[in-house]
Amino acid sequence: MNAGDFHKLNAYILRATGMNVPESNVSTVENFVKIRMEEQALDLPAYLNLLDRDLGERDLFFNSITINETYFFREEKQFKALRDFFIPRWNERGGEPLRLWSASCSSGEEPLSLYALLKEFSRRPFTLTASDISGRMLEVFSRGSYRYTAFRHDGEEFRDLLDRAIKDREEKSFSVEGAVLEEIDRKQINVFSDSFDGLPDMDLIFFRNTLIYMSPDNKKKIIGRLAGKLKEEGVLFLSVSETALISDPALELEEWHGVYFFRKKAPLKVAEKTAPVPASSARGSVSLETAVRHRLPEDDLELCRRINRYRGRGKICPPEDSGLVCQYVNLAAAVENQDLEEASEFLGKDRELSRFPGLFHFFSGYLAYSKGCNEEAAAHFRSSVEACPKLWPSRYYLLRSGGRELNKEEKLENLEAALEQIRRYISADRYDFQFLLEGFNARYFELICNREREQLASGSV
Ligand SMILES: C[S@@+](CC[C@H](N)C(=O)[O-])C[C@H]1O[C@@H](n2cnc3c(N)ncnc32)[C@H](O)[C@@H]1O
Repeated sequence: MNAGDFHKLNAYILRATGMNVPESNVSTVENFVKIRMEEQALDLPAYLNLLDRDLGERDLFFNSITINETYFFREEKQFKALRDFFIPRWNERGGEPLRLWSASCSSGEEPLSLYALLKEFSRRPFTLTASDISGRMLEVFSRGSYRYTAFRHDGEEFRDLLDRAIKDREEKSFSVEGAVLEEIDRKQINVFSDSFDGLPDMDLIFFRNTLIYMSPDNKKKIIGRLAGKLKEEGVLFLSVSETALISDPALELEEWHGVYFFRKKAPLKVAEKTAPVPASSARGSVSLETAVRHRLPEDDLELCRRINRYRGRGKICPPEDSGLVCQYVNLAAAVENQDLEEASEFLGKDRELSRFPGLFHFFSGYLAYSKGCNEEAAAHFRSSVEACPKLWPSRYYLLRSGGRELNKEEKLENLEAALEQIRRYISADRYDFQFLLEGFNARYFELICNREREQLASGSV
């Protein structure tokens, strides 16, 4: 698959699932798509189109991109926290049935572990929903047949709890009682984009070992969605390695004997609510006094840093910043939300924006590229690179949009420059260009540029 198609495929996956395909899975996904395209005599755009229309094909495709590793009572410290801290408190409080949700349940080991624990220790009735993006995994779960390798050393302490749920034991495998499987409500849900409307608000959500494959923005989006589905005081468990990287205004990070979890905060009372953003700063215009107090960024790179600081806050301008920076914050938010018409309007409205030619031409190029006007796009990306050579996303999109008109030497030269800059960006732990990266992380661009360089060098494109 050439680099252009590879990018289209990954952009599709990112849009649909929020996931950057893990490097270890890249060739599996690529081979799967190649085979399916050949079998159905489709090119990539036609195949992606089919994925939007055909749920069966979409499911097969999701199955090829997900990693489903799981086992019973994984991260047993979290199960201890449930047994010794949460469940006793829920018991004391009494009340309506507890609502639990294992939101990336894979082949069922996680919800079955929760089920066995609650059955043993909870005096309150509970409902348990188990969902996953992958239909194939839900099917495996519905069969309820497991090998003993689904138990590991981690989780050993709880292993016996599952005994009551087991029906048949064979030498290498065992089956779970049908009645137990029936008590767990299985659903196919993509937490990144599917509606949660049919679900009750939850006391406990497990979403573990899944965020790791998401870009930082998509992590935020998913956590925000899950937080919205928690009851007040409800609890969210991620895996230990994921917890440190997450924050959300609706959630409080708490700890119990070294086990970290998020608790949904009580809503702010009216008097405590933060002051509304002054109307004058909500859409680009700020008071003259504020504008003069805050100097304009010196160049495109400083502007990127400032825009990046205000990402994820919707179109709320930095109240203390100048009007021009606000315009760019809004423009970047519109592009990130793929609200391209609105972005075009922003861009067309104010000639002052071209005071930052690197970004001005990047956005103009991006909008032209999105409309399929590749020549116009390439001209803008070229101007952007000339104005701000360190803005490597422009180099990357120049290759994408104007690739065919560049000769091999020019392409290689641009690829080398982009690669060097991307590597420096990664090793310096930078994040300033994230709003230009369509939700991918910088490593993804490194991967794709490397690949394109290898293909060019071997003459395969
Ligand atoms: C590595 S497994 C983790 C399973 C289990 N939560 C655990 O910790 O053992 C990741 C699971 O997340 C699912 N998944 C990936 N993206 C998802 C999404 N957007 N929505 C729901 N499930 C998703 C995959 O299909 C896979 O079964």
